[in-house]
Amino acid sequence: MSDVINVDYSTKIPNNVGLTEDRQVLRALESWHPGYIDWWKTMGPVGFQEALVYLRTAVSVDPKGWAKFDYVKMPDYRWGILLAPQEEGRKIPFGRHLGEPVWQEVPGEYRAMLRRLVVIQGDTEPASVEQQRHLGKTAPSLYDMRNVFQVNVEEGRHLWAMVYILQKYFGRDGREEAEELLQRRSGDADKPRMLGAFNEATPDWLSFHMFTFFTDRDGKMQLESLAQSGFDPLSRTCRFMLTEEAHHMFVGETGIGRTIQRTCEAMKEAGIEDPSDVGKVRDLGVIDLPTMQKKLNLHYSLSLDLFGSEVSTNAANAFNASLKGRFQEVKLEDDHKLEHSTYPVLKLVDGEIKRVEEPALTAINMRLRDDYTADCQRGLDRWNKVIERTGVQFKLQLPHVAFHRAIGEFRDVEATPSGELVDAAAWNRDKDRWLPSTDDGDFIQSLMRQVIEPGKFASWIAPPRVGIDNKPGDFEYVKLAA
Ligand SMILES: [Fe+2]
Ligand SMILES: [Fe+2]
Repeated sequence: MSDVINVDYSTKIPNNVGLTEDRQVLRALESWHPGYIDWWKTMGPVGFQEALVYLRTAVSVDPKGWAKFDYVKMPDYRWGILLAPQEEGRKIPFGRHLGEPVWQEVPGEYRAMLRRLVVIQGDTEPASVEQQRHLGKTAPSLYDMRNVFQVNVEEGRHLWAMVYILQKYFGRDGREEAEELLQRRSGDADKPRMLGAFNEATPDWLSFHMFTFFTDRDGKMQLESLAQSGFDPLSRTCRFMLTEEAHHMFVGETGIGRTIQRTCEAMKEAGIEDPSDVGKVRDLGVIDLPTMQKKLNLHYSLSLDLFGSEVSTNAANAFNASLKGRFQEVKLEDDHKLEHSTYPVLKLVDGEIKRVEEPALTAINMRLRDDYTADCQRGLDRWNKVIERTGVQFKLQLPHVAFHRAIGEFRDVEATPSGELVDAAAWNRDKDRWLPSTDDGDFIQSLMRQVIEPGKFASWIAPPRVGIDNKPGDFEYVKLAA
């Protein structure tokens, strides 16, 4: 199979992996399909399964033009298996097997570790669809409604991507894992999703945009490091997922950017100078900047937890085994084995936050998280520019990594957003200044009204600068069922 650029749409499951010739895997996927559709219909977007949505579908893996746009009913979306083209002569870029040819089959000794990496990644994909299933009802415009549905169908496709790897390379265990990916439910007491942030609610659009900015960005970092994998099919899968993932982060970044812009414009029009005059700003039907800072604090800290413990032998093992690399591994200039180097890690030492040198191998999670933080900061800088241009005096900031953590070094302490350790009494007294309170949530909720007239937007969010697929401002991105 050398023609992997174009996707075969003649089969029930579109793919560029030669499924027609791979009867056993095709059969496994076909028997998984009905359960997936059931899951989509019961756990996917509520109330819009009959709507015609202007969606992009991957028709190729050529970076120059891989998608086509058209109206689709979501349950009819062509979820396919798409891998980036095989790189001729690719060598393992890191770890114990550095320089060896990449693996096309799972190395027996790493089977369990690899399966776990795939399952954890796979579990996040349907989880976010479940978390976002009620958002259509309160979409601030048809444009935004289409965006959440686009993200949802692609997260569905990412689940297919991981299920393909499981079914093709992990035999019976893989098929069982694929079943269980359809059984767990976000936030369920008995069968929750595997990671904390994916069991939190996404109750409103500000949460959704924060989620796609911060949590999808964790996804990007995880995919980036799996894209380095010595197990080539996983690498190729993740490389293609990253092209879709970019849109999810665009939705988050521009969603927050437009919200900020609307708030600042409304403040200016009303002559409100002080961003902390929350009551007055809220009266304008927009979301005050301090509340946005609190939401940011929440979503950033939840997303940091997804990177796991700062110092981790699991992460070291996965790197050593050449299964999961670092962000942009191939561009880094070092020995790619990390046997003798160290990496600075923030730790709790005698009740104080200190920077400590740790063996670089065990600090792999910390390093990926630092790369993530830098990536987040660049987004914040762009948001702060939006504020600056309007002349409002306010700056969004990432909270300290010790703030509001449930995993890692700082899970047992309380810290302020600026990283000052405080006792439980102080935390309880002040936490509503740092994290969204019930009141804040109620206020945001009060703004969440569905707007479905083409070209119109809810009071709290500015229109986008350009349409999807260059469509005009009043384009009907979703045709609601009669
Ligand atoms: Fe995804
Ligand atoms: Fe995503």
